[in-house]
Amino acid sequence: MEERRRLGILTGGGDCPGLNAAIRATAKSAIQMGYAVIGIRNGWKGFIDDENEILDGANTSGIIDKGGTILGTSRMSPFRIENGPQRVFDGFNKLELEALVVLGGEGTLSVTSKLFKMGLPVVGIPKTIDNDVKETDFTIGFQTAVQIATEALDRLRTTAESHNRVMLLEVMGRKAGWIATYAGMANGADAILIPEIPLDKERIEELCLMLKERERRGTNFSIVVVAEGTELEGKIIGRRSPNTPENEKIYRLGGIGNVLGEIIEKRTGLETRVSSLDYIQRGGVPVAYDRTLATAFGVKASELIKEKKYGEMTALKGNRITSVALEKVADGIKTVNLNVYRVAKIFFG
Ligand code: F6P
Repeated sequence: MEERRRLGILTGGGDCPGLNAAIRATAKSAIQMGYAVIGIRNGWKGFIDDENEILDGANTSGIIDKGGTILGTSRMSPFRIENGPQRVFDGFNKLELEALVVLGGEGTLSVTSKLFKMGLPVVGIPKTIDNDVKETDFTIGFQTAVQIATEALDRLRTTAESHNRVMLLEVMGRKAGWIATYAGMANGADAILIPEIPLDKERIEELCLMLKERERRGTNFSIVVVAEGTELEGKIIGRRSPNTPENEKIYRLGGIGNVLGEIIEKRTGLETRVSSLDYIQRGGVPVAYDRTLATAFGVKASELIKEKKYGEMTALKGNRITSVALEKVADGIKTVNLNVYRVAKIFFG
């Protein structure tokens, strides 16, 4: 009997809703094309630790609506450990893989692009709730995070109205404020603060004046949404993780909501409360949009593999599923489209 060609799949970086839908779609479509599919556990780490499992029709069934990733994930980059790239190639060869599908955000996809240049046959699929991967309109997970953040803002609105308060919601968005912009627009927020527009003294003043003006007009509550990575008076608020290497600046972002909330309360005299969505916006059931996007990306990835079109990433352009060179995606992010922001801004204040 002819040996089946072997395809690997891994998920790297932060998890997000819709990863399992993409794993299912990639595995099932590849199996139909005649591949045996191997799941690499915990991102690139799975190659180093030799942790993997066969993905078949059974263990990829019933997962389309499941949050997280059945393969596990990690932020380990082979370029940050000794002999890392070589160990990835060794793991890949040991499993006798023909090619690899990598589901990742900007960080993981940059690593994927470098490994491709070193000879690894790969195809990427963009995923992250932050939606900051270049060359694709949307990433898997983004729409679910927007839905969760919108629901949170809707709930904050009723309690804000009852108590005459300013309600501030902090959402994720490291370098780009996509979640804040979309959820804020869907909720009709009074201000949306994003990393693309740093909060300097002047902007803070404008924000406080706007909140006071609302009060003067007789609107006794306000809703403000802020992305975690927004610079506040020249500073990004966060802390180093205990496992952050000395020479690296990886920050666990978070806390701008509280700092800004205090500033607002002090300057305006308006009672202000702060909530943060933290990891709630990254967990749980994916919305239908993310499931269908993940399914389309998974099938496209298998097709690219079959055609040996390595070094590509699946992408959404308008309503067309296509692919782009990974190289174009690496080392850089897609910031918020300021035309979209302009539309949201019309309803501020
Ligand atoms: O996946 C992207 C992201 O959600 C960022 O918005 C956030 O800053 C980061 O992940 C948090 O990641 P971790 O799981 O490493 O704390």
